[in-house]
Amino acid sequence: MSNVALSTIRQRFHLRWLSRRPSRRTFDRRRPCPRLLPQFQTQWRGAKTRATVKFSELPQREIGAGENFLEEEEVGPAYPTVILQARNNMRKYENCVLLTRVGSFYELYFNQADKYGPLLNLKVAQKKTTAGPVPMAGFPFYQLDRFLKILVQDLNEFVAISEEFANNASGTVKSGGLLFDRKVTRTITPGTLIDEKFMDPYENNFLLALHPMDSHGSPNAPSNETIPAELATGSIPPALISKRIGLAWLDLSTGDFFTQTTTLGTLASAAARIGAREIVLSGDGNDSMQQSILDMLEQQRHLVTYHQNQLADDSISSWTLMLETEVPTNTQSSFSSEEVAAGSLLLAYVKDRLQGLGIKLQPPVRRQDKETMSIDKNSMRALEVLRTSKEGLGGGKGSLLHTVRRTVTKSGTRLLRDWIASPSMSLPVINARLDLVTQLRHDRAFREDITNLLRRTYDSQRLVQKFSMGRGDADDLMSLLRTIEATNGIASTLENRLSPSSTQPALDENDRNARRSLQALSSRLSLDGPNALAALINASVDEDGLMESHRIEETENADIVSLAQDVLQNEGSAEDQAAMSKVSKTKVKQKASTEQDPEEQDTWILRRSASPILEALHQALDGLRQDRVSLTSRLRDDLDAQSLTLRWTPGMGYICHVKGAKDVAASLKASAAARDVKTTKSTRAFHQSEWSSLGGKIDQAKQRIRAEEQRVFQQLRGQVVLNLVKLRLNAAVLDELDIGCSFAILAEEQGLVRPVLNLGLDHKIIGGRHPTVKLGLEEQGRAFVSNNCLIGERERIWLITGPNMAGKSTFLRQNALISILAQVGCFVPAEHAEIGLVDQIFTRVGSADNLFRDQSTFMVEMMETAAILNQATPQSFVIMDEIGRGTTPEDGIAVGFACLHHLYHKNRCRTLFATHFHALADMTKDFKHLACYCTDVAEENGGSFSFVHRLRKGVNRSSHALKVARLAGIPEAAIETARTVLESFTAQSPESVERALPQIAKA
Ligand SMILES: Nc1ncnc2c1ncn2[C@@H]1O[C@H](COP(=O)(O)OP(=O)(O)OP(=O)(O)O)[C@@H](O)[C@H]1O
Ligand SMILES: [Mg+2]
Repeated sequence: MSNVALSTIRQRFHLRWLSRRPSRRTFDRRRPCPRLLPQFQTQWRGAKTRATVKFSELPQREIGAGENFLEEEEVGPAYPTVILQARNNMRKYENCVLLTRVGSFYELYFNQADKYGPLLNLKVAQKKTTAGPVPMAGFPFYQLDRFLKILVQDLNEFVAISEEFANNASGTVKSGGLLFDRKVTRTITPGTLIDEKFMDPYENNFLLALHPMDSHGSPNAPSNETIPAELATGSIPPALISKRIGLAWLDLSTGDFFTQTTTLGTLASAAARIGAREIVLSGDGNDSMQQSILDMLEQQRHLVTYHQNQLADDSISSWTLMLETEVPTNTQSSFSSEEVAAGSLLLAYVKDRLQGLGIKLQPPVRRQDKETMSIDKNSMRALEVLRTSKEGLGGGKGSLLHTVRRTVTKSGTRLLRDWIASPSMSLPVINARLDLVTQLRHDRAFREDITNLLRRTYDSQRLVQKFSMGRGDADDLMSLLRTIEATNGIASTLENRLSPSSTQPALDENDRNARRSLQALSSRLSLDGPNALAALINASVDEDGLMESHRIEETENADIVSLAQDVLQNEGSAEDQAAMSKVSKTKVKQKASTEQDPEEQDTWILRRSASPILEALHQALDGLRQDRVSLTSRLRDDLDAQSLTLRWTPGMGYICHVKGAKDVAASLKASAAARDVKTTKSTRAFHQSEWSSLGGKIDQAKQRIRAEEQRVFQQLRGQVVLNLVKLRLNAAVLDELDIGCSFAILAEEQGLVRPVLNLGLDHKIIGGRHPTVKLGLEEQGRAFVSNNCLIGERERIWLITGPNMAGKSTFLRQNALISILAQVGCFVPAEHAEIGLVDQIFTRVGSADNLFRDQSTFMVEMMETAAILNQATPQSFVIMDEIGRGTTPEDGIAVGFACLHHLYHKNRCRTLFATHFHALADMTKDFKHLACYCTDVAEENGGSFSFVHRLRKGVNRSSHALKVARLAGIPEAAIETARTVLESFTAQSPESVERALPQIAKA
């Protein structure tokens, strides 16, 4: 039955919707829709490919402030007001999944209950209404985080949360007697999480906004007609490559806020580095820039949202209200106009999503392309810098980040991720980091002291951000207190290390530098304000009371679970009820809450000494409690009932409770002040005026205490906010120390060496190893063969040949990874490493089809190659693995040679080039600065062989492919056939092989 009813509702709902629009339209998802409205724009999700927009994705209409939804609904079925409100909210926030708070629950209705109930593993009930059954699913309010995680993080949905607000008298009348009104207080999208418990503590949750230059149709912008054909396939024509784009990104959970200007050519790499969960575009232009940006983002599977910035003022000063400190006027001019526009768009979007919830961000930090090594997006993926290609299966094991991470704090890990994705280009910065690692590497006891203290800290970056949004609770205060205590410990450990008595008499240059790096860190710690805050927290928060209140909360939550089951029983249809398992019914019975003495439930989270008022209020309460004890004993005596207790129950209010009812019957009658309310066989409950009045006073006293606690707590929050900047600065020092310790531990574990960075153009890596492959081999008990890499001005390109499986690709990658690690400030897996700073790393390895984008294997290969040849500079480091293998050997060789030629003559960058086209070695003989190296196979008697992974000078013309094919398990007969073909190849010309093929086939 319910199915029929449901489909009727759906049809009505659907038809009414469609009747508001001329017809169902098909949108080109890639084009911004001109009808988009300022709030909650339609999202084009990067990962989806449909050309037809689904019903829920139709552009929404704007709803005027005074519009009366209820009137509009008069023609429709008379749903209860709560459902009607929810339905109107579903309409208003139609791109969102609506969660409506009803009492202790969040509920979904109509088609959203049907769609998301099963996905959330919630039972979908049919709520009985006069207008027919309404599909409904819900969960207890305290599980909000859990369900938000599934909706926002796993399903990439946008969620609108509609909260309950008590109606005033006129509101109650207007709403037809409803005590509560419901309003959407926040919409949550993947990029606008604040402090949700499911957020990954080890990663930033960035929201990124882009503003392309010329998107307002300046004369420079190519018009629609001139969209070059290449754009359709995602490659960028040279004319647009250098067009500037403003980026602004922030993490609401930490308050981090950055801006950068980049170009269309490097946008993909910047986006890959930032790794935003959601990207906002203004969608106010329809030009080729917008189009190619969108193509690129879609290709990278980014979640893209459109939003129109309604702020009239597009200047940095308009950001001030959302910043913890103003951007100094003298630095304002350093931000480019694209960055300012992107920043304004970003903040406008956030403001809309948060619906008035205040935030305080850190002032924007301007990132510049030149400050960091750029790892292009292909390198990021191919070198598995942040995650492996099989991410999700092994939890990132095997990525560079995972391999080097020994951090012990969450925010330290987030900073490490940032460092690894954007290695530094500044010698002083890199050397300071290396100095710190050197110090921590050699002084194990010192390092262990620091890491032990770091382990005691909490994520103060995210904690203080919570306070800046007026959210932090007593637990957060305790976490801050512990962090400040640990910070003090760290400060004194640093001081001790720096004190003259602990230093050796003769300090060499390295020691002096290392001391300087410690000194710099130590001087950045500011403890005065935070220590005063810590003392205040210590004196105010009652930790025991806090723990007790958590225990009570848990009990209450258990009660709500049983209530949930009640609701389902009452509001679900007969079928729903029948479907309810016996198990849950038993649980409901077991969980029925018991009548309790309210005195047992009272816990205070603040010490009574937290304020003089609080002290006085507690004293007053103590007095009243004493009165209660006296009253109890007096009543016991007067009524001759020793079992008498004074209680409060929700139904009866203040009562005296007596066991053995008969015994007190007579004395009760005699007492004028007592009124019987409930009598059972064995108990008796009655009102007694003195207890009613005293009980009321106790209650009032408690309320006053609660209000005073709130006031004091608010003051404490204020104190945290006052110390915001200092706490953040201290946290940054702790994060850097965490990374320093992490690198030092890694260096010790894996025998890494300190690299020497310089401004030259040479790589001198002696005994280099691959950081991750080495570990993998060692796990299997195999040894890794180290190799030197001496490329630079003398030998700018290494052309590497050799058998399959002999380590060419590994060698290429290991040197790119070593360069990255060195510029991050980490020791490197080598015996010795001297590296001229690398401005960009480019990688062309493996094949990645992108058939969805209409790009074949070879197309992808060529696009990646194009990026390298167009962008590499003499300071860049390029690795190219088997370029040209996706086409005929002749074409492949031609392309391979052209690349070598271009890299050698035009880009002039350091290049490692691995190939199976041996002809390339002959063709590049007169390239003076190109050297040939190779790997090998060692054949032993009896047909066994082994790979020689050590590189030697020269060219190896045999690939030994059949040996690898046999190892891989190709059937012996097929191997034989291949061998026959190969032999005829070497003996004869290819034409004669073709003639011989029928014979081979017969054999
Ligand atoms: N230096 C080394 N020492 C020990 N083992 C190595 C070394 N380099 C690579 N290997 C092992 O050899 C395997 C194959 O290496 P790699 O993929 O680099 O070979 P390749 O020469 O690129 O082969 P192909 O030509 O087939 O691409 C690696 O997975 C690793 O197990
Ligand atoms: Mg290879």
